[in-house]
Amino acid sequence: MDITIAKTAGFCFGVKRAVEKVYEQIEVSEKKIYTFGPIIHNEEVVKDLEEKGVSVINEPDEIKNLKDAILIIRSHGVSKEIYDIAENSGVEIIDATCPFVKRIHNIVSEESKKGSTIVIIGNKAHPEVEGIVGWVDGKSYVVSNEEDIEAIDEKKDEKICIVSQTTFNYNKFNKLVEIISKKGYDINCLNTICNATHERQIEAKQIASNVDAMIVIGGKSSSNTQKLYEICKEQCDNTYYIQTVSDLDLCKLNSIKSIGITAGASTPKKIIEEVHTNVRNEF
Ligand code: F3S
Repeated sequence: MDITIAKTAGFCFGVKRAVEKVYEQIEVSEKKIYTFGPIIHNEEVVKDLEEKGVSVINEPDEIKNLKDAILIIRSHGVSKEIYDIAENSGVEIIDATCPFVKRIHNIVSEESKKGSTIVIIGNKAHPEVEGIVGWVDGKSYVVSNEEDIEAIDEKKDEKICIVSQTTFNYNKFNKLVEIISKKGYDINCLNTICNATHERQIEAKQIASNVDAMIVIGGKSSSNTQKLYEICKEQCDNTYYIQTVSDLDLCKLNSIKSIGITAGASTPKKIIEEVHTNVRNEF
């Protein structure tokens, strides 16, 4: 059995940095630690943190009731409102927003203050996008398909600043920008897709096109893992989406000679290694 593990599999720079910040706080902080939303889309890691006393809160209102607390902002970032609430409630913030996401916050904040309408290409319901919207000082649209673009109701020549969710598909982004361009606006387009995602997708596609089976590891609710799975499935029909080694049905890999392994941005190295070891030992 020939096994290829993607070099880009697993934690990206931003996620690694955020997770490390939480473990760092566990060591040094005397205050109770909270994260706003799970620190990453990985149940194993979130469970481990819970056992070490880190709690997850999800609603802005919950921040107001925290006492003697530290609130860690995850790599996805949050809206400006959350910082304001924390500050007014005397809650200390440890900001683990990925610098690439922070850059988007700064862009949309500055450009909207200068009078541009902001168009965010991304998934409306994703926390990263909700956070970005929360830094716009004016009008914004979130678009992920042609219908959303049709709904952009602005005058011709209007100044439009386009940014992207960091994990958005590169080709789809270009296609949507092309459609927006035909509407006659004065466009300032900034491709804010993160290279980590792009590189992981390119490598996954390349590996998937050369193997008999492909394993994609990641949390169920991780959108970047979902995208990786779709990309691999297009190249290799025998693509399996698993969360941990226990989801792996080795019987399906029986007559297979080569296998590829990749993982989403929030998959810990430990889980990737477990899957690798399991596949290697079995065949
Ligand atoms: Fe940051 Fe890119 Fe990861 S934006 S959180 S390094 S996918």
